Amino acid sequence: MRIKVREAEQEDYSPLCQFIELVDNDFYPPLSMRGNSIAQRVRECLSGPDSYYMIAEDDTCIEHPTDKILGVIGCSKYWKSEKDAYINLMCVHPGFRRKGISEVLCKELEKKTIAEGIRKLYVCTWSTNVAAMRFYEAKGFIPYCIVKNDRGNRVDTIHYRKTTV
Ligand SMILES: CC(C)(COP(=O)(O)OP(=O)(O)OC[C@H]1O[C@@H](n2cnc3c(N)ncnc32)[C@H](O)[C@@H]1OP(=O)(O)O)[C@@H](O)C(=O)NCCC(=O)NCCS
Repeated sequence: MRIKVREAEQEDYSPLCQFIELVDNDFYPPLSMRGNSIAQRVRECLSGPDSYYMIAEDDTCIEHPTDKILGVIGCSKYWKSEKDAYINLMCVHPGFRRKGISEVLCKELEKKTIAEGIRKLYVCTWSTNVAAMRFYEAKGFIPYCIVKNDRGNRVDTIHYRKTTV
């Protein structure tokens, strides 16, 4: 496996929707239950002037594009100010977790956002998501706000931020 990261384009719309459907239930609540449909979420991120997805794919895979996506990270720029961005999605194919794919995606996103003048990244997760909490904390994100029982009984939302430059 050789991981390549690139910015998603309009042509990635359908493979992206299929990929996010595959991981939908790994989110709490599932992404499809958060108001927007997955299709709408993908459409808005791909067409928004200040948002984009970055895709990690296996460069050695020659199968159908859908099978090539290993992971996705999404970014919405200018979230609280003109020098920050919000990570609106991070997910890795269930068969390829714990292989450093998010690490590569996050590094590439940091590089790109720094080049775009972004100085701070924000993200949030929920308190039962040990993988994501460990990940963000290992990558230097600091929890700055915890909203108790935000997602259900004893499921808190944890807001993180990281100063990148
Ligand atoms: C969270 C998620 C994106 C991590 O992606 P990944 O590619 O498996 O993560 P990486 O392999 O890059 O892990 C890097 C580090 O994060 C931490 N980590 C990742 N998964 C972990 C797990 N299951 N348990 C504990 N720590 C974990 C570890 O510190 C790991 O380093 P190590 O393997 O050297 O110990 C992935 O589990 C996922 O897609 N989960 C479902 C969707 C989701 O929860 N997204 C985040 C929502 S906020």
